[in-house]
Amino acid sequence: MIPVNSISLNGKEKKYLNQCINSNWISAGGKFNDLFEDKIRNLIKKKFCISVTSGTTALETAIQSLNLKKGDEVILPSFTIISCFNAIVKNGLTPVPVDCNFDDWNINISEVKKKITKKTKAIIVVHIYGLASDIKKIITLKKKHNFKIIEDAAEVMGLKYFDNKYCGYYGDITTFSFYANKHITTGEGGMVLTNDKKIFNRCKSIINLFFKQPRFIHDEIGSNFRFTNLQAAVGLAQFENLKKIIKKKRLIGKIYQKGLESIKNIYLPLKKNNFSKNIYWVFGLVLKTRNRKKREDICKKLLKKGIETRPFFWPIHKQPVFKPYQKKEKLHLKNSEYIAKNGFYLPSGTALKLKQIKYIIQEVKKIMK
Ligand SMILES: Cc1ncc(COP(=O)(O)O)c(C=O)c1O
Repeated sequence: MIPVNSISLNGKEKKYLNQCINSNWISAGGKFNDLFEDKIRNLIKKKFCISVTSGTTALETAIQSLNLKKGDEVILPSFTIISCFNAIVKNGLTPVPVDCNFDDWNINISEVKKKITKKTKAIIVVHIYGLASDIKKIITLKKKHNFKIIEDAAEVMGLKYFDNKYCGYYGDITTFSFYANKHITTGEGGMVLTNDKKIFNRCKSIINLFFKQPRFIHDEIGSNFRFTNLQAAVGLAQFENLKKIIKKKRLIGKIYQKGLESIKNIYLPLKKNNFSKNIYWVFGLVLKTRNRKKREDICKKLLKKGIETRPFFWPIHKQPVFKPYQKKEKLHLKNSEYIAKNGFYLPSGTALKLKQIKYIIQEVKKIMK
């Protein structure tokens, strides 16, 4: 079976883990925590950062740090992971999902403009599947409407905008995930970055149960989202291989692009958009024929050939958990709905071998004829 994701732990992961164990410091606040955080902060060029237990808890921390009021609205792309929605509603705020572009699957700026109200206090901008969103237009809107930008860069660690800044640079708060399918992984893990000292201090308290002096007196509800020295040891080793990992992801993307370009009835991912060159977090395909059954059928056939696939995200506005936020006139976000029904992605983990990619291309071509 070729899994949809496969990871490479072929750097100094073991060496650093051994050092960590030998030092007897395996929980939060260790040497590797500092080293790992320094690396990412320096790469993204942010003043402050704090590592947490996942990309999901990074988003929850980011939203909680803003101190918003019940009824305040947060805009998010409908085509994204459920974690973005959870972070909003767990903090008592109102989610406002917006449609995506048909070509790069990122949030559509004209649709964002239509959804901004006086209650809009934040927007979560997610860079989807390996291409950057139009963050500069969002910044222009922010200047006019005064909301905060949360840049969810979970899927694009190491991706640069064409202005040479790394994704994550422009958000008021940026979040990452280090789950096993991300460009660098610590098993589970995430990070919050910001230039705002107040937000940073608040994040530190949120992820550490609002401990303060005197100890065991708490004046707000926090969580234990602390990241361990063990995870950071793996993270540091992974980080040292980031350039190689990105090179491999782009190579996989390039081979798929060339191998699959002759198939007439699918859309391939864009090689680049106006803001970045694809880093191929995943290699997604969208069927040109509107037929969800057909997608399931193709994925089943691929599975029989030993090739695992995944369907695209299911849109937020179509989720059962979105029902309480649904207005009388039901939301219809046509691009998100189309790609969710007709999109799936192929194996693209960094441990994938050239001969496996060739085999996948051959089988996809046979099935899609
Ligand atoms: C864009 C995005 N944000 C957040 C997350 C959540 O990260 P985690 O799985 O570490 O909680 C994911 C996970 O895939 C993601 O793709």
